[in-house]
Amino acid sequence: MKRLILLGACAMQLCLNANAQQKTNPADIQEKMQWFADAKLGIFIHWGIYSVKGVDESWSFHNKKISYPDYMAQLKGFTAEKYNPREWADLIKESGARYAVMTTKHHDGVALWDSKLSKLDVVNSTPAKRDVLTPLYAELRRDSIKCGAYFSLIDWSHPNYPGFLKDSSRYDAKKDPARWQKFLSFYEGQMAEVMNNFNPDLWWFDGDWEHSAEEWEAQKMRTMLTTHNPKTIINGRLQGYGDYDTPEQNFPVSRPAYHWWELCMTINNNWGWQPQDTNWKTPFEIITIFVDAVSNGGNLLLDIGPKADGTIPAEQVHVLKELGAWNRKNGEAVFNTIGGLPLGHFYGPTTLSKDSSTLYLFLPGKTSGQVVIKGLDNKIQDISVVGNGTKLQHKVVGKISWSPVPGLVYIDVPENVQDKYVTVLKVKLDKPVKLYRGKGGFLSGE
Ligand code: GLC
Repeated sequence: MKRLILLGACAMQLCLNANAQQKTNPADIQEKMQWFADAKLGIFIHWGIYSVKGVDESWSFHNKKISYPDYMAQLKGFTAEKYNPREWADLIKESGARYAVMTTKHHDGVALWDSKLSKLDVVNSTPAKRDVLTPLYAELRRDSIKCGAYFSLIDWSHPNYPGFLKDSSRYDAKKDPARWQKFLSFYEGQMAEVMNNFNPDLWWFDGDWEHSAEEWEAQKMRTMLTTHNPKTIINGRLQGYGDYDTPEQNFPVSRPAYHWWELCMTINNNWGWQPQDTNWKTPFEIITIFVDAVSNGGNLLLDIGPKADGTIPAEQVHVLKELGAWNRKNGEAVFNTIGGLPLGHFYGPTTLSKDSSTLYLFLPGKTSGQVVIKGLDNKIQDISVVGNGTKLQHKVVGKISWSPVPGLVYIDVPENVQDKYVTVLKVKLDKPVKLYRGKGGFLSGE
């Protein structure tokens, strides 16, 4: 998302509304979106020449933190000498993620595959001398992980792309449509290469903000990709021609308006590898962010930034493994569920089984004593702790016998059944969840 210097809710609103003019109708894409809705967790991978010096991906030269020649000098250091796509795929699998999105080309224009349309790729211009995407996608597919391709529409290196540095551009696309047309055939050609070589399950476009849908020929691109693979999913950064919303870094406090959404977030403060950035999110933080997104009907696309030699930094491996261990224990409450209760019923994230008759409650950190559910108009059949099966006691308080308003359900959660990060309770209901949403009136329950 474009770097906007705005704060808090306002910036978030902008972020979420960036593709407010969505052209796709949820009913038409429901079927192909199902795996995405069930997947919940994806791993984003930002790998490129920016990991050589450890600078901002593309933005460092665009924003003039580093000169363009100095940025491009990183091509010489991109060795990928210890790159082991088998290990990458295994780590992603171990994290519990169901899909991975790899940068095929960032705004710097450096392609990570063997592009026939440009020499600016890791095969022709770096010591890696190989297409790093083909083996990764093969290994991911071997592990049954869906393959996503991040593809930047912006290409600040291409001689026929207007934008370059933050305060200078090559030309104005509106004033020189013939030159813009040349860029379009190049970028559409590269997109077709990625499509034909890798047949992505998901396209993750970025940078649509620099031009309009008409200029990008967004509708034509969507048609090209979905004709080739009708099941392919397109993120919401194609000027309205995408399938789902992509809030970035900013956690949506209320449910985004779109039917499907995915929060993309860095594991420290940056997308790519930057050695000085040690602000790692802890496993506890990642797990609580993850379950909160799922509770609100969304996915988490958690980013990692491998080093130029192809190794994944130990701190990132640690977070992915801890997340994976938690997912193996608690996954039934996350994967293949639907978003949980609206705000006001439980102090924490919740999810529901697809038939809505099992409610999962997430308890971040240690809880002393009891937790409470409000306005639950169901009979509870059974409550247990996910991952160890311990049965828990509950009691209903404040129920007036002659009022339709349900009482408060207090559940005892002993210390010794709790998870070190987030404990999950499984509440089996007598029927699909029914909620009381009124103001506490006596008779009508209004
Ligand atoms: C932003 C940035 C880009 C990053 C992307 C990931 O749009 O432009 O550098 O790759 O976010 O979501």
